[in-house]
Amino acid sequence: MEVRGDYPARPRLAEESVVEISRATKQFDSINALCGIDLKVRSGEVYGLLGPNGAGKSTLIKIIAGIVQPTSGSVRVLGLDPSVNPIEVKSAIGYVPESNVLYDSLSPRDFFEFVASIRGIDRTSANEKVAKLAEAFGLEQYYDSPIATLSMGTKQKISIVAAFMHSPKLLLLDEPLNGLDSRSSRIVKDLISLHAQRNGGAVLFSTHIMEIAERICGRIGIIYQGKLVAEGTLDELRSKASALYTPRANVSNEGVATLEEVFLKLTNEEEEIAETVRTLREAFPVRQPLV
Ligand SMILES: Nc1ncnc2c1ncn2[C@@H]1O[C@H](COP(=O)(O)OP(=O)(O)O)[C@@H](O)[C@H]1O
Ligand SMILES: [Mg+2]
Repeated sequence: MEVRGDYPARPRLAEESVVEISRATKQFDSINALCGIDLKVRSGEVYGLLGPNGAGKSTLIKIIAGIVQPTSGSVRVLGLDPSVNPIEVKSAIGYVPESNVLYDSLSPRDFFEFVASIRGIDRTSANEKVAKLAEAFGLEQYYDSPIATLSMGTKQKISIVAAFMHSPKLLLLDEPLNGLDSRSSRIVKDLISLHAQRNGGAVLFSTHIMEIAERICGRIGIIYQGKLVAEGTLDELRSKASALYTPRANVSNEGVATLEEVFLKLTNEEEEIAETVRTLREAFPVRQPLV
């Protein structure tokens, strides 16, 4: 979607970078949520931010969306600084937040109309796009019910439809498959891939589920304790991790590391988890048969 009105002219983008972040930090009181992140996402790219709970994924996505200000560092989205031009950035992106912020008293129909109007999308084309997406997700039956009465998964689908509605140049999806059944998850994964391949849109999404990142991402960034500890294609991450492997049988079938193995190796969590499992085994001894 083009930025309209009296907004500042958008600077030309270097190498079609849609997101460019340099040395971003975020501190919440004594918590260092982000400790110097460098990140680039290009148009047509699906970038997966993979990390455990509390790693900093949502904070980073909120900074890109202009909802949270970084403590330091530089952030550019479509060439603009979200803290200087928050309205322009917000209107140019699609964002599915971690927890839904929908208007409970509206129906999905009213909500989509509201989103289309604030985004300045032509009513007919918005209706067509929404109708297709809503049909894919089986939302029609809920179209006139108050959002407050709908299930978590249905609210998540509404949030996703609203984010895709205007084919944004950048989609930020924070754990988008949370609460979705397998059919809807599959549709979202396909939508993400289509959006990048057909529309040339950039997609940045976060997940703590390896399998999702493994399937649909061009590049994956592994975020851990506020740092991007590794980044690359799945093959690049595998070879980084295999350089760290000691030659023992800790790689799954046929010597090819899964993303989970790569992740545990790159975050040094492997030994820690093995230790935790040992402790748990001791805490839950095998029960002796009663005699
Ligand atoms: N508004 C906030 N106030 C205080 N601490 C926060 C806030 N938001 C996030 N944090 C902290 O920052 C860290 C990163 O959180 P978050 O970005 O939500 O991680 P993730 O999305 O990877 O689970 C966590 O330690 C979290 O408790
Ligand atoms: Mg999160």
